[in-house]
Amino acid sequence: MHKDVSEILFTEEQIHDRVAEIGAAITEDFREKAGDDGIILISVLRGAAIFMADLAREIKIPCEMDYMAISSYGNGVKSSGVVRILKDLSSHIEGRHVVIAEDILDSGLTLTYLLKNLASRNPASLTVATLLRKKTKVQADVDCAYVGFECPDQFIVGYGLDYAERYRNLPYIGVLKPEVYE
Ligand code: PRP
Ligand code: MN
Ligand code: MG
Repeated sequence: MHKDVSEILFTEEQIHDRVAEIGAAITEDFREKAGDDGIILISVLRGAAIFMADLAREIKIPCEMDYMAISSYGNGVKSSGVVRILKDLSSHIEGRHVVIAEDILDSGLTLTYLLKNLASRNPASLTVATLLRKKTKVQADVDCAYVGFECPDQFIVGYGLDYAERYRNLPYIGVLKPEVYE
């Protein structure tokens, strides 16, 4: 285990199994309605890149991949409260079935912003798959069709999740020792 991590919450194997289940569910739910066009999987950079890469390989219907970069956290441990688009999609999503792959729902600010922004482009449907949903006291009401795991209200890293851009490459998800960011 990494020296800055106090506890592993989800192992590499647990994550793999859960991602496979979500991929199978998306495959079944969209096989009929998306038809030959399939879905567009949208990853929210940078945190969700690893989840999306693994999820895409568990989806067995046509699946385009596109990326959007928005950021609210910068290098801090708290959301700045302001969401910025750093990179927009390359594809047009009008009339398409869109599935957003996010790594974590925390305050809900990022997904609330993204859902509103993408809905205005008139997709055929808009669905959220989040690997983690944090149990926080205050969280915006975001409708997530697929949730991998509920996680405690602690600062967690790994499998895409960073602190100051580090730890994204850990293959597991763990709790960051408070002394690292205090
Ligand atoms: C993190 C995380 C989610 C978002 C969740 O992204 O990857 O996208 O925060 O927090 P919220 O529900 O409170 O909005 P961050 O802004 O740190 O950018 P990153 O993905 O590049 O790390
Ligand atoms: Mn993110
Ligand atoms: Mg971050």
